[in-house]
Amino acid sequence: MLPEERHEVCNLWKNTGNYISDHVIIEYGHADVKITKVNSHVDRLFAGMGDEIPVFMSHYDKLVSLPTGFVVIASTKNSEFAGIAHEEKPVFGVQFHPELEHTPRGTEILRNFSVNICGAQPNWKMGDFVQLEIARIRELVGDKALVLGAVSGGVDSTVGAALMREAIGDRFKAILIDNGCMRLNECEQVKETLGKHLGIDLTVVDAADLFLGRLAGVSDPEKKRKIIGSTFIDLFEQEAIRIEKEAENTPNSGKVEWFLQGTLYPDVIESLSFRGPSATIKTHHNVGGLPERMMNGQGLRLIEPLRLLFKDEVRAIGRQLGIHESLVGRHPFPGPGIAIRILGDVTKERVEIARQADHIFISMIREAGLYDQISQAFAGLDTNRSVGVFGDQRVWGYIIILRAVRTKDFMSAEVFNFDNAFLANVARTICNQVEGVARVVYDLTSKPPGTIELE
Ligand code: XMP
Repeated sequence: MLPEERHEVCNLWKNTGNYISDHVIIEYGHADVKITKVNSHVDRLFAGMGDEIPVFMSHYDKLVSLPTGFVVIASTKNSEFAGIAHEEKPVFGVQFHPELEHTPRGTEILRNFSVNICGAQPNWKMGDFVQLEIARIRELVGDKALVLGAVSGGVDSTVGAALMREAIGDRFKAILIDNGCMRLNECEQVKETLGKHLGIDLTVVDAADLFLGRLAGVSDPEKKRKIIGSTFIDLFEQEAIRIEKEAENTPNSGKVEWFLQGTLYPDVIESLSFRGPSATIKTHHNVGGLPERMMNGQGLRLIEPLRLLFKDEVRAIGRQLGIHESLVGRHPFPGPGIAIRILGDVTKERVEIARQADHIFISMIREAGLYDQISQAFAGLDTNRSVGVFGDQRVWGYIIILRAVRTKDFMSAEVFNFDNAFLANVARTICNQVEGVARVVYDLTSKPPGTIELE
């Protein structure tokens, strides 16, 4: 299936409005689905799957009666209508999540639907993506305009930048904005690595004080994301003016018309509101967190080459482009950075505590040879404080929350199982080395119901 078709399927769901809400039972996690064989027309969705399959459920609402013309093709203990199909039309519905890796046979179900039922051609190959995307970028951007790129050093923005550079060479201008919430020494390291491995001359803009000033007193996660998103855009617009001026009278003179972002498909899905704002899982600062003027097509126009891809696909493209493993294999780091890893207020002091603790945790993970076994790990900071004892002093100390998960698609995730001795060692080291920390806890929540980030 082409990535565009994936998006179409998603929109179909959004527009049906064909669910019934009872808000009684919340069901999430593993469930066994019993498949009911009806006839050759409706059995096509679960073709080749036997009588029972394990699936992943995550829902508040459920279907409580069958729409006219539909029959049941699957059920669980809690969901009588876990799978339904129209008796004549090629219309199917499932209550569980075939798109998540926790539904082991989900890909087969999606293949049955897209290829066997919808007749989509399974002709999309990762190998073709790079050439197709480079051609698309060239056509979109033309041969004069300049493109400004938000590059953080994460795999998404790095792959996006590499594609852009390949497509338009020096007309691509890479900028890293230091929002004051980056990890220890990150800006310097990213600048050096991108220069060394990709030949990209990254401009680092120090805007820590501006961001921290605007975030002062804001503890609501969505507000944080919006403030960070709009401040990023303010600064990128200023950078665009600077770059245009600098490019005047050079072979690359032109207008900065485009703004590159490394948005991925999970960011798009989780930022979509299916039933009004309350159903938005979160506003990714680089999706719904953008100011109105950009969403209305005014000012810089967005270019998002990876918008229809998942993380593992982006990594594959990175490897295909020959990007160094240290960049391709990096754990993701969100655009708002440490700001969404400290619960509550974002202050210089609190960011610094989380930053130091994170550095210790990640360094110890690397030293233990565990980095590549974990999909994403970090240390965050709790809102509350807790009593601790240092020498003969009682202190009112900070609480560090360690998080480490394994996932392929980042839309669901399992907690990583560390050895207890390793965790105890991390806790001891953080309490000893990060002033003010009196307690360290390990978050055992999978996603769902937790998210990977703390906010
Ligand atoms: P959650 O916390 O939603 O995260 O389970 C899933 C993946 O998305 C990343 N993430 C973000 N990335 N801007 C980003 O660029 C954001 O606002 C944002 N929020 C979460 C997160 O790090 C994880 O990889």
